[in-house]
Amino acid sequence: MNPFRFGLALSVATVLVAKLFAAPAIIPAPASLRVTDGAPFVVTAKTNIHAAAAATPVANWLARWSGLQIVTSGAAAGGITLAIEPALRTELGDEGYTLSSHADGVTIRGATAAGVFYGVQTLRQLLPPDMERGGVRAAGGRAEVPAVEITDRPRFGWRGALLDVGRHFVTVADVKRFLDEMALHKLNVFHWHLTEDQGWRIEIKKYPRLTEIGAWRASSPVAGGNKADDGVPHGGFYTQDEIVEVVAYAAARFIRVMPEIELPGHSAAAIASYPQLGNDDSPGYAPTVQVRWGVFPYLYAPKPETFQFLDDVFGEVLALFPGEFVHIGGDEAKKDQWNVSPTAQAFIKANGLKDAHELQSWFIRRTESYLSAHGRRLVGWDEIQEGGLAAGATMMAWRDVKWAIAAARAGHDVVMTPTSHTYLDYNEGTTEEEGEKIGRGPLPLKKVYSFEPMPAELEPQFQAHVLGAQGQLWSEHLQGWPKVEFRAWPRLSALAEVVWSPREKRDYVDFKARLPALLARFDCIGINYRRPRATDDAPAAALPAK
Ligand code: ACM
Repeated sequence: MNPFRFGLALSVATVLVAKLFAAPAIIPAPASLRVTDGAPFVVTAKTNIHAAAAATPVANWLARWSGLQIVTSGAAAGGITLAIEPALRTELGDEGYTLSSHADGVTIRGATAAGVFYGVQTLRQLLPPDMERGGVRAAGGRAEVPAVEITDRPRFGWRGALLDVGRHFVTVADVKRFLDEMALHKLNVFHWHLTEDQGWRIEIKKYPRLTEIGAWRASSPVAGGNKADDGVPHGGFYTQDEIVEVVAYAAARFIRVMPEIELPGHSAAAIASYPQLGNDDSPGYAPTVQVRWGVFPYLYAPKPETFQFLDDVFGEVLALFPGEFVHIGGDEAKKDQWNVSPTAQAFIKANGLKDAHELQSWFIRRTESYLSAHGRRLVGWDEIQEGGLAAGATMMAWRDVKWAIAAARAGHDVVMTPTSHTYLDYNEGTTEEEGEKIGRGPLPLKKVYSFEPMPAELEPQFQAHVLGAQGQLWSEHLQGWPKVEFRAWPRLSALAEVVWSPREKRDYVDFKARLPALLARFDCIGINYRRPRATDDAPAAALPAK
C-alpha cells in the first residue's frame, strides 16, 4: 500500500474506533456513564414506549418529541421502558435515574417521574440531533442509541434560570421555548421576574390599573445605552389564564416556577398605576412607568392601604403559583423617599425602628409572615439582610457570595447568583465582537464553567444550606427573543453542568469536546445561541469580572 493510502486508511480506522468507543457527548455530564461493547439499540417508527401509569407525563413528552407510540398494556418487550421504582430513592434521590441500553431496548428507571424525565433527556442526547426537527421520521426513520449503562443524579436541587420580563416583555410562546431549552439541560427552577420599574407583567384582578397602566411604557433607551430614548412604546403582560398555562407547561417538564414580585423598590410601575401606594408626601413625587434603566427612588409607603395591596397581590399570586418558593425582590431599594416622607418617618418611630434599613426589613418580615402563614417560603436578594434577615428567608447572593456564607452560617438556605459568574446578560465576547459592554462583562463561557457554587470557606455543617445556583437573564439589553438566546446559550449549558454534575467530573476541556454535539442539537431546534469563537478561551478573554 502506498504511504498516502495507508495513512488515509489509518485515519479512517481511527475515526471509526473513536466513534465506537468514545463516550457519548451528554451535557450536563452524567455522574457515571459506561459504554458497553454491545450493539446499539435501533429506534424505528415501530419502536414502542412502555410506561407505568405514574410515568405517563414523561411518556407523553417522549412520545411527542420522538413520534413513537406509548403502549400501556402487555409485557414490556424491547422498546423504551420507563419505570418508577420508589425503592431507588436511597440510591438515586428524588431526581436521579438509571439508563441501560443494549440491542434489545432501553430501560430508564427512577424513584420519581422527575428522575425518569431526566433519564429521557439523556436518552434524547444519545439520539441524533435531527430528531429535534420531528422525531424519528426526521432522522430518516431509523436512529441508534449506543449501548451504555448510566447512573446519574444531580449535585444540587436548585438548578435555575431567571428571566426578566419586566425590562423587555417576552411572549408566552417564547417563555415556553425557554422552558423547553431548560428541560433539555435538566434545569428545574424558572425564576420569573414579573415586576419592574419599567413594567408590571402579571394580571391582578383586584388591581386592573397594574396592567392597564403599569404594563406599558412610552419609550425605551436606544439599544445598548441608557441616554437616548427610542420613542417606541413597549409593554405587555400575562393574563392569569396564561400564567396557569405556563405553570402547567413547566410542570410537565419538571420545572418549578418561582414568581418574583419586587418590593419595596423596583416598584415604579405599580406605584405609577396606584400613586397612593407610594410616598406621596415626599418632595417631587411624580411616579411614572420608567423609560430608562437604573435604580429609582419609588418605594412602597408604609401605610395600611399599601399593606392591603401587597396582601391582595400575593393572595392572587399564590393562587396561580403552587410552588413552595416566592421571590419578593428586596434589592436596590434606595431609601431617599423614606428618609424624607413624614409618613415613613412617623412609621419608623411608632414601630421602634432605627432607620429606613430597618423599615425595609420590617416590610420583608411582614411579607415573610404572610407567606409562611400560607405555607410558602420567601426568597429575596442579598440586601434583605440589611437591617436584619427575616427568620425563614432564603437568600440569593448576587453582589457577593460573602452574604450567602453569612446567611448559611446563620441557618438560612441560599442560592448562588453572583454577578461575577452567573449574570448571563453580560456580554460574552469582547465589545468589538458584540458591540456593547454590559455590567461587569465580558463573562466568558470558561468563567461560567469555572463557577463553584459551594464556597470553599463554608464549614461542612452549613453546606446543606447551599441549595444550588442559577443563571440570570436581566433584560435591559435583551431586546427580543433572539438576543435572549444569544446570551443564554451555551453559557447556561455550562452552568447546568456546574449544578448537575459531580464536582470531580468538571473538566472544561472535556465540556468543550462535548459541546459541538449540543450545538448541533441547538441548530436543529433553531436556538439562536452564540457560536463559540477560536479566541474565546484566550487569556485576554478570560478577564476577571471585578
Ligand atoms: C439585582 O441584580 N439587582 C438582583
